Amino acid sequence: MHQEHILILDFGGQYSQLIARRVREAKVFSTILPYTSSVDEIKKMAPSGIIFSGGPRSVTVENAPRLDAEIFKLEIPILGICYGMQLMATILAGGIVEKAEYGEYGKARLNILDNEGIFSSIDNSQVWMSHGDHVKHVPEGFSISARTEITPVAAMSNHYKGLYGVQFHPEVVHTIQGNNIIRNFLFKVCGVKGNWNMADYINDEMVEIKEKAGTGKVISGLSGGVDSAVASTLVHRAIGNQLHCIFVDHGLLRKGEAEEVRRTFAEEFNIPLVYVDARKRFLTKLEGVSEPEEKRKIIGKEFIRVFEEEAARLGDVQYLVQGTLYSDVIESGNDSAATVKSHHNVGGLPEEMDLQLIEPLRDLFKDEVRKIGEVLGLPDDMVWRQPFPGPGLAIRVIGEVDEEKMGILRKADSIILEEIKEAGLYKKIWQSFAVLPDLRTVGVMGDERTYGYPIIFRAVISDDAMTADWARLPYEILERIANRIVNEVASVNRVVYDITSKPPATIEWE
Ligand code: XMP
Repeated sequence: MHQEHILILDFGGQYSQLIARRVREAKVFSTILPYTSSVDEIKKMAPSGIIFSGGPRSVTVENAPRLDAEIFKLEIPILGICYGMQLMATILAGGIVEKAEYGEYGKARLNILDNEGIFSSIDNSQVWMSHGDHVKHVPEGFSISARTEITPVAAMSNHYKGLYGVQFHPEVVHTIQGNNIIRNFLFKVCGVKGNWNMADYINDEMVEIKEKAGTGKVISGLSGGVDSAVASTLVHRAIGNQLHCIFVDHGLLRKGEAEEVRRTFAEEFNIPLVYVDARKRFLTKLEGVSEPEEKRKIIGKEFIRVFEEEAARLGDVQYLVQGTLYSDVIESGNDSAATVKSHHNVGGLPEEMDLQLIEPLRDLFKDEVRKIGEVLGLPDDMVWRQPFPGPGLAIRVIGEVDEEKMGILRKADSIILEEIKEAGLYKKIWQSFAVLPDLRTVGVMGDERTYGYPIIFRAVISDDAMTADWARLPYEILERIANRIVNEVASVNRVVYDITSKPPATIEWE
């Protein structure tokens, strides 16, 4: 475990991940655990401080998420946020929480009464509130350290024990001084130094990977995406040629992607790479198939088969590298029970192959993975690649997939990417790509009637792909892309721009 770290106990609040982010932005490592974690477990982790997250329940109802009071005997500083503060007040002697006469939702002005501890050098300013209950009496040893017009106890402090509660949410941007309040908790109350950085993280991980893998043979599946590339490079730094990367080229990647993976890994980084040209194999399997879910199943199954064959050829493999991220590992709890689930990027592989997992990114968020990629010297194009679906272009050629259609799509797609990059928009847009529908339309080019394909251009902004909005691109860019596609891609005579958000649509067309 990284030496200085803050533990966030998750009570199912919608901002738990955001709290973890804020702490890491202050260069302090943070982890999230469900509130059901035992005090023994927490003690063993020896965090420098603990933050109780908010949560959707009321502490006043039966079966509300609770905590073992022993946690307060660990003498570790604690900051309770919203539900977290109310829980503190409920558990500690003398505290009373009740349903407020008026709930407080949205912006409020904080009136600070005590500038010590978390409010050191903080001015009265706007905070973000979202609560129906409030603390009526603070527990013994606490004093009221802030109020708002509606809420008499907007914050409470026990400086002597390093226990703090805030009714508002310091982690959201609408709390103007929120970051500083969190930093005060970290640096003034918990006394951490804030020197966590990616280089240290890489070193710590390398030690762990070496220890885990011993002298065993390790394999990794490269997909062309940033997660598998960073995970594999990191593992290679740790154990060198004990790692064997397998890159299954299913022929469904974008223009130039397969070559870039080969060049970077095999040539630049000298990482043993098994390149499997399975393009024909996948295309043959997809012949005559037009239903999207069936395509996905066929591709997923075939991928596993090819991967297994190659792993068997290498022989005596014991470990599998997976690019699992922190957001895949934690799932903030729903209303009553926070659960930790583990997702695997390559569905089914570990179970079927009976391999132990090495997941060097499982503590990191996506942007942190990108930073590691940069520190490790991976090419910018790989580090900043927009998300790309596993089944690749097969779900962007609508209906039956064939070589000719893939060729058309690839060309149109590469024009879109070139122009989006040229306009400096690539990193700002979540995904931008072309879709080729299975219909043709009439056009006129050079006085002649054409009957060709339309290309659908889709560009969306999003934080997590759960919801997305269509990107409001400047007309000039739309025009340039449309012109280039109809001029440069034979068989295409029309370009349309998809202006639907998700929901009700999805990001992909299939
Ligand atoms: P939708 O289309 O559901 O996509 O809004 C959400 C995100 O998931 C990606 N996506 C996939 N990724 N296998 C994947 O690995 C798939 O079958 C798949 N389908 C969609 C999509 O690109 C978007 O980022």
